[in-house]
Amino acid sequence: MSARIRSRSRGHVRPDFPCDPASGSPPDRRRRALLFAAAALAVLPGVAIGASDGFRIGIIGTGRIGGALAELWAKAGHELLISSRHPDDLKPLAARLGANVRVGTPREAAAFGDVVLIAVPYGALPQVGRDYAGLMARKVVLETGNPRRERDGPMATPALERGTGVASAEYLPGVRLVRVFTSVPYLALRSEAHRNGERIGVPLAADDQDALAVAARLVEDAGFEPVPVGGLARARDFDVGSPVFGRALTARELRQALGLLR
Ligand SMILES: NC(=O)c1ccc[n+]([C@@H]2O[C@H](COP(=O)([O-])OP(=O)(O)OC[C@H]3O[C@@H](n4cnc5c(N)ncnc54)[C@H](OP(=O)(O)O)[C@@H]3O)[C@@H](O)[C@H]2O)c1
Repeated sequence: MSARIRSRSRGHVRPDFPCDPASGSPPDRRRRALLFAAAALAVLPGVAIGASDGFRIGIIGTGRIGGALAELWAKAGHELLISSRHPDDLKPLAARLGANVRVGTPREAAAFGDVVLIAVPYGALPQVGRDYAGLMARKVVLETGNPRRERDGPMATPALERGTGVASAEYLPGVRLVRVFTSVPYLALRSEAHRNGERIGVPLAADDQDALAVAARLVEDAGFEPVPVGGLARARDFDVGSPVFGRALTARELRQALGLLR
């Protein structure tokens, strides 16, 4: 989204148009998503535009997914704090990504971000929630984790049975949660961002429409097309084991596979 659209929208009442992902032509849908994000920025308390005219984003878990998104969002002009339990390890990455990227601990990332990305193994989510949910209260939190029994242990099974949107919301009380960047492999994030022609679609699920709009803008800024699927209960539609999981589908293919085309 251009700074012009964004700054025009700030301080204005949110226009009354539906965030309907499936209607209209692709350009219409993209324009509507951008307008909705601009409107959300105007009304979301605590979401500040940083010095670079982007968001302040804290990243908890700067591995394959978190690292790929850090690179894409840094290029898009956002201000980042990338974190690790061993922050010195991230200094070379931060230096490569530029002056808008600093390094810290997970706690510092939770405190820094107006938007926080959590990209940790799903088994670490309960501890991340216990330790940092208070610092992230009312913030927009994008969470990418996928429960894997072989990696995350027995907690993975009930999380998948209930759906990750429901499970993650319990681990992260009080935040404006969006399930996003969960189903597209990180290598596709690296290779397909901003590609020519039809963009790869990224499914999102959220109960909070303003948080959804902010996340949709960050999907756009990363070089992909946001495909809102529904509330958090619908996150299971793109969980591990679903037909769209682990695939890089165009937005149209994704809508078709998810039954979102009219
Ligand atoms: N890889 C993919 O293609 C992909 C795609 C979509 C979704 N996902 C999901 O996204 C999540 C992250 O995947 P990934 O592939 O990026 O994993 P990864 O490369 O292993 O990175 C995970 C990061 O989480 C950090 N971390 C681990 N435990 C932590 C804790 N208790 N507190 C704070 N940070 C912690 C680690 O950082 P430090 O050790 O430096 O602290 C590590 O860099 C997983 O749940 C995965 O299922 C992965």
